Amino acid sequence: MIFDNPVDRKGTNSVKWTKENIANISSNGDAEPFWVADMDFQVEEHIKAAGERLAGVGVYGYPSFGSRLEEAASSWLRAKHGWDVKPEDLTFTMGMLHGIASAIDLFTRKGDRILVPSPMYRPFREMTERSGRILVEHDLAYENGRFSLDRERFSRDMEGVRCILFCSPQNPSGIVFSESDLLFVLEEGRKHGALVMSDEIHSDLVHPGSKHLPMGMVNAKAGAQAITFFAPSKTFNIAGEHMAFVHFSSSDMKEAFRDREETMRLYEPSITIGELTIAAYENGLEYNEELCRYLGRNAAAIRSYLEAECPELIMADGNASFVTFIDASAIYSKAEKEVLSHPEKYPGGSGGGILSRFFGVNASVAMNDGTWFGKEWKKFVRFNYGTSTERVMAALERMKKAVDSL
Ligand SMILES: Cc1ncc(COP(=O)(O)O)c(C=O)c1O
Repeated sequence: MIFDNPVDRKGTNSVKWTKENIANISSNGDAEPFWVADMDFQVEEHIKAAGERLAGVGVYGYPSFGSRLEEAASSWLRAKHGWDVKPEDLTFTMGMLHGIASAIDLFTRKGDRILVPSPMYRPFREMTERSGRILVEHDLAYENGRFSLDRERFSRDMEGVRCILFCSPQNPSGIVFSESDLLFVLEEGRKHGALVMSDEIHSDLVHPGSKHLPMGMVNAKAGAQAITFFAPSKTFNIAGEHMAFVHFSSSDMKEAFRDREETMRLYEPSITIGELTIAAYENGLEYNEELCRYLGRNAAAIRSYLEAECPELIMADGNASFVTFIDASAIYSKAEKEVLSHPEKYPGGSGGGILSRFFGVNASVAMNDGTWFGKEWKKFVRFNYGTSTERVMAALERMKKAVDSL
């Protein structure tokens, strides 16, 4: 099976597989990478063929896709999530982060408060703070592997908030939110006159047994001001090619956003990502369903291995994507003592922390340190299991040995 044979990505300019980057976060350039959120799987065959066709032409000139991208995205939303959206209600944007940053700039002002649930994907913090907005870091409730919304605290934290930046399903925990959670968030937004932005880049990778509900679809019942972002990038492992789509709850917002992208000359994708996206959305459903089953099996295998063999590490109970947050509180103090008392053994740059260095050196497993997702989360690591089950299980065995050595 394609997923059992991941691609050898060494020497391909992949950020995840470059030694210096791995050394920076894990103190060991030879550690095997389980960090940056892309997968090691070969893309679906129509996507590969589209890339090969373009390479065969040998010219990468200006494209003209007309409305084909939005049409392909609209059909995908209907087939995958049951959301009926007209192509003209969708807008292309050059990547998820660009789209969110643009919307923050356009629809909020300097000094506005933006609430972001935490642990959070670090660029959310950076985008909020760099643009002069005030970050309201709202910790999700957490207990023994379970992350959830604490509605009472959420309501309290909403005081004076102008925008909610939500991530659904959530990175790094993998939580898939229920309709009731989403309605709650939308209702909070409506009550406080706050815009609800939802980053749904991981939404096509929900495991069997769970269902993702797009914020824009649920909002039909809530009537909040909402912007829903989704993308083919994580879904089809084409994340290095920046492409995302946006849905707005009002045509005024949509027009303002489009106008702004045109002013910035950022309204046209490259020929490469356009071709890959159309190939993916038109042909990728079967591959995607197979992938979701594979990721679900990887997640279940990780969970049962840790429960049985290494209970010091607790996997978050998320049910989406290929990343999980692992709670290592049980060994944190010992790992900290080990790392701090042997600085020569754990060199590295600013990108890592105690646990990423500990596992990098002692298990040869490079993961994102929990501190990357907020200071509160230093006792966690994020593990990327978007690779073969064999590699995942071998990495867990090495992690268990490292834990036992403490
Ligand atoms: C939640 C989330 N949003 C956005 C991105 C990046 O999206 P893009 O590369 O399209 O800007 C990532 C990548 O890891 C992510 O996890």
